[in-house]
Amino acid sequence: MQKIKPIKTAVFPVAGLGTRFLPATKAQPKEMMPVVDKPLIQYAVEEAYAAGVRHMIFVTGRNKRAIEDHFDTAYELENELEANQKHELLALVRSLQPEDMNLSFVRQPRSLGLGHAVLCAEHLVGNEPFAVLLADDLMVGPTDGLPVLTQMVRAFERLGGSLLAVQEVPLDQVRRYGIVAGDTVDGPHNERVLKVRTMVEKPSPENAPSRMGVAGRYILTPGVFEQIRNQPRGVGGEIQLTDGIARLMRTEAVYALQYEGKRYDCGSKDGFLQATVELALQHPEVGENFRRYLHDLKL
Ligand code: G1P
Repeated sequence: MQKIKPIKTAVFPVAGLGTRFLPATKAQPKEMMPVVDKPLIQYAVEEAYAAGVRHMIFVTGRNKRAIEDHFDTAYELENELEANQKHELLALVRSLQPEDMNLSFVRQPRSLGLGHAVLCAEHLVGNEPFAVLLADDLMVGPTDGLPVLTQMVRAFERLGGSLLAVQEVPLDQVRRYGIVAGDTVDGPHNERVLKVRTMVEKPSPENAPSRMGVAGRYILTPGVFEQIRNQPRGVGGEIQLTDGIARLMRTEAVYALQYEGKRYDCGSKDGFLQATVELALQHPEVGENFRRYLHDLKL
């Protein structure tokens, strides 16, 4: 049997304009919007790191400098914190750059879609399986369980094929997602896996093959690049990642994992607010006071 390669690389497509959050995103990347005290992109990078990924590839665009700066050394700040003996804050700032983590940045020169963004990272990924994380989707694993990408890496190690994170979505929302349908595969410990048969990007409720929507976490084999390169434009005139994966299914098995945990769609105002409230309630520093505050609100 062929040995399954470990997932060492993750691609973060961060070139999007974030128009749903204007004016907040006029001069700053949407991925830098903080939920409590951490920008969205940091949640995603930490999730990848926890899953064993050490090479983070950001597919960026114009006005995204803040993301590079966020993960770079901030000399003045660090000197200042050191001089003022603020050791805890200094450690916090430095924790963003573990020594064994490598970062690469590549530009997506035009907004041609998610598939195109992933293709922009091909030369950095090489011939290895890799993860894709959409930072808009803030994923929180169960309290006593594993983070979502770690669940996926475990399942990938067993299955060896591309793997998508999925959740059931309401029928009136299927047109916001890539939708998959497939056959149940037996997994250990209640792991819920499907072997994907069909996959369509943003179908109408009438045409949706199921209500199983793709969340913004993927593990893909490098064969997907060839598919994306040769595919026609899809929904919205964009080069869709979903279409590339659907084409990959002709030659390779593709799986979907119903992950354990919760997804906050932080690309929408509702999801962003829900994440803020729920993560604030769990926050070690502000949680308790915030709970009391909410309790006393006359709603
Ligand atoms: C993208 C993908 C879609 C997926 C979604 C998850 O859509 O194209 O298949 O279900 O992310 O968040 P977007 O939200 O960028 O329109």
